[in-house]
Amino acid sequence: MLRIGFIGCGGIARHHATGMQQLKSARIVAASDVVEAAAQSFAKDFGGTPYTDYRKLLKQADVDAVWVCTPTFQHPAPVIAAAKASKHIFCEKPMALKLAEAESMAEAAAKAKVRFTIGFVRRFDTQWGTLRKVVQSGALGWPVIWRFAAGGRPANPWFRDVHKGGGPLMDGAIHNYDFMLQIFGPVASVQASSLQFDKTSVGADTASVIVNFKSGDQHSLIWSWGVAAGAPVTYLNDLIGPKGALQFGMTAAQAPKGFDPQKQGALTLKTGQGRERVYTYPQRDMFLEQLKHVVGCFARGEQPLVKAEDGLKSLKVAVAVLKAGASRGTVKV
Ligand SMILES: NC(=O)c1ccc[n+]([C@@H]2O[C@H](COP(=O)([O-])OP(=O)(O)OC[C@H]3O[C@@H](n4cnc5c(N)ncnc54)[C@H](O)[C@@H]3O)[C@@H](O)[C@H]2O)c1
Repeated sequence: MLRIGFIGCGGIARHHATGMQQLKSARIVAASDVVEAAAQSFAKDFGGTPYTDYRKLLKQADVDAVWVCTPTFQHPAPVIAAAKASKHIFCEKPMALKLAEAESMAEAAAKAKVRFTIGFVRRFDTQWGTLRKVVQSGALGWPVIWRFAAGGRPANPWFRDVHKGGGPLMDGAIHNYDFMLQIFGPVASVQASSLQFDKTSVGADTASVIVNFKSGDQHSLIWSWGVAAGAPVTYLNDLIGPKGALQFGMTAAQAPKGFDPQKQGALTLKTGQGRERVYTYPQRDMFLEQLKHVVGCFARGEQPLVKAEDGLKSLKVAVAVLKAGASRGTVKV
């Protein structure tokens, strides 16, 4: 049984806590939030002792591990304090906004010999996992360009503040940076140009980015959190290479025999002249898969799949993207 304390009781904390209710091996024993009502309603819904100061939570002897779910600029202090209090740590992504802070977090966890992981939930996504396998099989040929475009508007304003959440090319795209590093290996440079669409944002809320890998592959992203609320922004996520294009989904006519859309998903590889190959995968709740993995590892005292160095590597790319975006230039990584 892993006894867990939450630091930050907002949207994602509630999502993780709902998943924990399905696990026999996890129990929430404490919850802290600077907003007293948030800590209290979380404790009422999921259990545990509520606190407004996480330092008091860290003194609670039966807390084995903490889930740090505060806004990103508030990750370093509780992570370092939790390490000093000998608690295992799950920290939401991005690890931090500044590299020096992320390095201090990694050092604190290593020094205290606690297990420390970052919430790169896409590592547990069967759809992106299948994408990775198809690309790495060489089915698209090389080099590959991964194309991605997204819009939207997070509910809380801190997400659109470069000093608190870093904006979409930090907060949202950090999942892409971590995942692309798993597919394509090290990054050589990033080119970017950032914009501010919405005057209520603090700093850039929009950018176009090209990540160049040492392998010659590319990841291109256009992401905005500044388009008018509710305006439709087409989501794009596909990959192209010399041998063809890999797209998400398939048509009903392409469905393999026995395909169950309730339980399975599909990617389609198109290689020209009508040639197509469908790859299916089981649909799983990636947050629940992540939770089972991390809870199991912490209970056994093992390091989960995602390590502090993964948090640092993706943050290095994110910091370079923001720098390149501001100067509308190229930054070597
Ligand atoms: N893995 C994912 O896909 C995913 C999805 C959403 C959010 N996140 C990440 O999770 C983190 C939190 O996001 P959210 O959507 O839950 O934000 P949120 O604004 O809904 O919740 C944050 C909570 O932290 C509290 N808080 C702020 N400072 C605190 C402190 N010092 N101590 C204790 N509580 C404090 C706030 O009062 C709030 O209740 C961010 O880093 C975000 O990027 C990850």
